[in-house]
Amino acid sequence: WSNIVDLLLGQVLSFKSNPFEHPFEEAARHIFKGAIVIENGKIAAVGDAADLLKTHPTARVTDYGERLLTAGFVDAHVHYPQTAIIASWGKRLIDWLNTYTFPEETRFFDAEYAQEISNRYLDLVLANGTTTVASYCTIHPESVNAIFTAAAERDMRIVAGKTCMDRNAPDGLRDTVQSAYDDSKALLEKWHGVGRAGYAITPRFSPTSTPEQLQALGALWAEYPDVLMQTHLSEQVDEIEWVKSLSPDARDYLDTYESCGLLGKGGLYGHAIYLTDREKDRLKEVDASLIHCPTSNTFIGSGLFDMAGLMADGHRIGLATDTGGGSNFSMLRTMAAAYEVGQLRGTPLHAAQLYWLATQGAARALHLDDKIGNISVGMEADIIALNMSSTPAIAQRTQHAEDIWEALFATIMMGDDRAIDATWVGGKLLC
Ligand code: GUN
Ligand code: ZN
Repeated sequence: WSNIVDLLLGQVLSFKSNPFEHPFEEAARHIFKGAIVIENGKIAAVGDAADLLKTHPTARVTDYGERLLTAGFVDAHVHYPQTAIIASWGKRLIDWLNTYTFPEETRFFDAEYAQEISNRYLDLVLANGTTTVASYCTIHPESVNAIFTAAAERDMRIVAGKTCMDRNAPDGLRDTVQSAYDDSKALLEKWHGVGRAGYAITPRFSPTSTPEQLQALGALWAEYPDVLMQTHLSEQVDEIEWVKSLSPDARDYLDTYESCGLLGKGGLYGHAIYLTDREKDRLKEVDASLIHCPTSNTFIGSGLFDMAGLMADGHRIGLATDTGGGSNFSMLRTMAAAYEVGQLRGTPLHAAQLYWLATQGAARALHLDDKIGNISVGMEADIIALNMSSTPAIAQRTQHAEDIWEALFATIMMGDDRAIDATWVGGKLLC
């Protein structure tokens, strides 16, 4: 570590508690003339600019003016290998997978291509203010090494894992029960806990893993209970029918995981739109994480996630782009879509709730909320400077905003990578 102490000036937004459980005025903390002190890659102090300038006279000062300093975004479910096929037109889940996704993922046997896309993907998300992602890879170990290497080069905190599939996938994109277990174990041993990396055991979803493969990965999770496990659950009606036909004895979709040791705290279940009461109860009981992917759910035509209902029932919920089923790399656009989905369900989300979901909520879903997702002392210094007047259209709205939430909401609804003025990762300015 260098001995340089950095002091960032700007408006500062942080969270003291969950704005779904407490009034947002209490849950959020906004300092108009605020400052953040960074030492050794971590946040050392947060407070009023005048105070912190006085107590840190030798700090290197970066003045972001009226930019809003917040935690970097956390994207709790992505497929980095789908970067190059994002926004592919006109298919439902199963044919979208077969037409666009699987052919592209087949290319990742090539370590060089995997490295190229890993670098391209992380540069894109950093430009969008996202400082941590939880990513699926492909079946190829090369794809896992590539993303962890690219993240380490940028000192990004990341979660990733080898996607496992041993049926219903094309040639060149299937592993086996044994190789899924062996490769996942070797990659987990190689990367988990190294620097800022965390491993997630990653069976893609029930249709593409035999029960034997799910059992093997359940056994692996039992050997390493502190790693995460990520998969897909109840995304589309047709998919659920397919799971029923493949596993006629299962009580429901979740049971195909539960019966194989793949339900637990530390389990991340993407989409989770069409849940039965039994599934909701079990997910709640074990404190599993549900990941809302709103741009994907509208883009692929999946359905409307019940944020308000599940949150009220006390579920652990994160927000995600689901690149490239999701149609954007931006968590701002993702918050906007979450708002729109809430509107269609008659439950509008407040700007504080949306922003919490994209930062602390997503970090909490990944069990990383003691390290990232908020601006508070001791947290890793993953920080963005958000320009709340980044385009003429947004600026003319923000100009007469009554408070911080009105101003922020305009950027949530209309903002994109142009709103991200700076991205600090682990206490260093990356872009
Ligand atoms: N279900 C299984 N695989 C995928 C995927 O790659 N994207 C989405 N959206 N759903 C899936
Ligand atoms: Zn997904």
